[in-house]
Amino acid sequence: MKSAAPIDARSVFRERYGPWAVITGASDGIGREFAAQTAARGLDVVLVARRRSVLEALAAELTARHGVHSRVLDVDLSDPAGADTIAAATADLDVGLLVAAAGFGTSGPLLDSDIRDELDMLQVNCAAVLTLTHHFGGRFARRGCGGLILLGSLVGYQGVGRAAHYAATKAWVQTLAEGLHGELRPLGVDVLAVAPGPVHSGFADRAGMVMSRAARPADVAAPALEALGRRRTIVPGALSKTLTWTLAPLPRRTRTAIMTRVMNAMTPNRTPHLVNPPDAPPTRTHPG
Ligand SMILES: NC(=O)c1ccc[n+]([C@@H]2O[C@H](COP(=O)([O-])OP(=O)(O)OC[C@H]3O[C@@H](n4cnc5c(N)ncnc54)[C@H](OP(=O)(O)O)[C@@H]3O)[C@@H](O)[C@H]2O)c1
Repeated sequence: MKSAAPIDARSVFRERYGPWAVITGASDGIGREFAAQTAARGLDVVLVARRRSVLEALAAELTARHGVHSRVLDVDLSDPAGADTIAAATADLDVGLLVAAAGFGTSGPLLDSDIRDELDMLQVNCAAVLTLTHHFGGRFARRGCGGLILLGSLVGYQGVGRAAHYAATKAWVQTLAEGLHGELRPLGVDVLAVAPGPVHSGFADRAGMVMSRAARPADVAAPALEALGRRRTIVPGALSKTLTWTLAPLPRRTRTAIMTRVMNAMTPNRTPHLVNPPDAPPTRTHPG
C-alpha cells in the first residue's frame, strides 16, 4: 500500500490559505516582508501598492527564489475605487489570504494638518480595509477557509496626542478585527489583528516621526503568520510587548498621557501647535 505523503507545515498553510495571497502595501516595510514570507510558504502572491516598478522587481525576486506565481497591481488606495479595482483584478484567482498592510500615519497637532491628507489616511487605513475585508471575507466564507490579517498598531489601544487621527484609524482596525474574529470563525475564516509598536520601515519618514528603537518588519510578519488561526491579536516585538504589559493595567486617560509623551519624543522636529498665535483674535471664554 502506498503511504500518504508527509504533510509539512508549508503544505498545511498553503491548503488553508492558498493558493493565492493578496498583500497590500507590498512595496515596502511590513507588507513587503509579509509578501516574502508568504511566498516562502509556497503561496502565489498578488502584490499591491502604488510603486509598480518596485512591485515588479519584488515579484521577479520571489518567483526566482520560491518558484511562486505573482501578479502586480499598482493601485492607489486613497482612491475610493481602489479596493474595487483589486477585487476585479483578482476575480479569476483562488485567493485564500488577505494581508491588509497598506497604510500610513501623520503626526503633529491635528489642527496643523492638511485635512486632505487626513481624509486620504482615513480612506487607506479604514475604508479600503473595510471594502477588502468585506470582499475577501465573503469569498473565503464561500469556499469555507481563508485568512484575514489586518494591521493595527499599539497606538490604537488609546488616544494619542500628536497622532490623534492615526491612532483613531488603528483603533478602528483593531475593533473591526476583534469583532470579526468570532463572527467569521464558524465560517472557516481566521481573522488576526497585528498591533506592532515602532518598526523600521518607510513609515516614520512619511509620518514625520523619529524612531530610535524599533523592531524589524520580519519581527512582525513571522509571528503573525504563525499566529493566524491560533490567536485573535498579536503584539509583535519585545519592546511592544513590554509597553503593552506596562500600560494595560493603567486607566485609559493615563495611557493616553503616557503615549502622548512617547509621541512627543518621536516628533521632535514638529513645532508645537499655537492655539493662540500672537495676532489671533482673543479666545472666547465659555461659561461653566
Ligand atoms: N512602521 C511602524 O512603526 C508601524 C507600527 C504599527 C503599525 N504599522 C502599520 O503597518 C502597516 C505597514 O506600515 P509600514 O511600516 O510597512 O510602512 P511603509 O514601509 O511606509 O509601507 C507602507 C506601504 O503601504 C503602501 N501605501 C501607502 N499609501 C498607499 C496608497 N495610497 N495606496 C496603496 N498603497 C499605499 C506603500 O506603498 P506605495 O508607497 O508604493 O504605495 C507601502 O507599500 C501600516 O498600516 C502601518 O500603519 C506600522
